[in-house]
Amino acid sequence: MSKVTVVGAGNVGATCANVLAHADVCKEVVLIDINGNLAKGKALDIWQQAPVDGYSTRLSGGDDYALTANSDIVIITAGVPRKPGMSRDDLISTNAKIVVGVTQNILKYTKNPIIIVVSNPLDVMTYAAWKASGLNDKRVFGMAGILDTARYRAFLAEEIGCSPKDIQAMLMGGHGDTMVPLPRYTTVSGIPVTELVKKEKLDAIIERTKFGGGELVNLMGTSAWYAPGAAAAQMAISILRDENRIYPCCVRLNGQYKIKDIFVGAPVKLGKKGVQEIIKLRLKKDETELLNNSAAAVKEVMDAFDGMNLS
Ligand code: APR
Repeated sequence: MSKVTVVGAGNVGATCANVLAHADVCKEVVLIDINGNLAKGKALDIWQQAPVDGYSTRLSGGDDYALTANSDIVIITAGVPRKPGMSRDDLISTNAKIVVGVTQNILKYTKNPIIIVVSNPLDVMTYAAWKASGLNDKRVFGMAGILDTARYRAFLAEEIGCSPKDIQAMLMGGHGDTMVPLPRYTTVSGIPVTELVKKEKLDAIIERTKFGGGELVNLMGTSAWYAPGAAAAQMAISILRDENRIYPCCVRLNGQYKIKDIFVGAPVKLGKKGVQEIIKLRLKKDETELLNNSAAAVKEVMDAFDGMNLS
């Protein structure tokens, strides 16, 4: 009997709503956009797909936040996407205002939602939503790591010539060029990836993953949506089913990994309360160094956001 709101009915938001509807895990999905007709139209279209694909999820949409009342989960995808030549951080001032405004509107109609942020620059937009919401930090987190590992897993599957289903991977750090890949924690049906892929090839795949978002921006003139939308939906599904799936998510570290008050990617268990646990890995010296650099890069943008005095 759950309700999920997706704010932003653009490429990522609509894809996310579509994947969620197909999963048939919630009673209702609400799409909200400043372009109310776009949200209403896409919700209607996905609802009309239900008899074809066979799901019961009801969809509605518009620009009125009253529609979102008593949502269990809110997924924020509102914002402008990246264009060629832009970094994720270039989006900060535009998207920060949007994310803060959206969060304030949501809180008017739902007291204690779980908020999943997808808008970029991801780590800082998650911080912005958390700050604007005043919610417990276990209830506000961001989607980046599932997407980054998905890209990495897809590239590895291509290289090995196996199904991407058999590739398990974990990474940490910020969503961007400073992400921290952990090939030590990558397996192919239990086999360490290093036994199947040569170091040079693995390094090249890691490098391609770091710039995986940019590769798509260059191809399409805008940022990706199928994998990002599905990844955000996957987080919501683990929460709705209280599955405690372990995913890399952008969370507020509170001393774990000796990092405090910074939102970065780490392995977490996702269940009905949101972040049920942040898993602590024993990182090696070089991995810790990469993570610290990544956290420092995120902190710089968090400070820039604080300087904007938006929330
Ligand atoms: N409130 C609600 N919706 C908004 C607002 C707002 N204040 N501002 C913009 N939007 C809506 C736009 O009207 C648009 O429909 O957000 C939607 C964004 O959709 P797209 O332009 O298609 O962008 P998309 O590719 O979905 O990316 C959205 O997700 O992955 C990130 O970097 C990406 O930050 C970007 C976000």
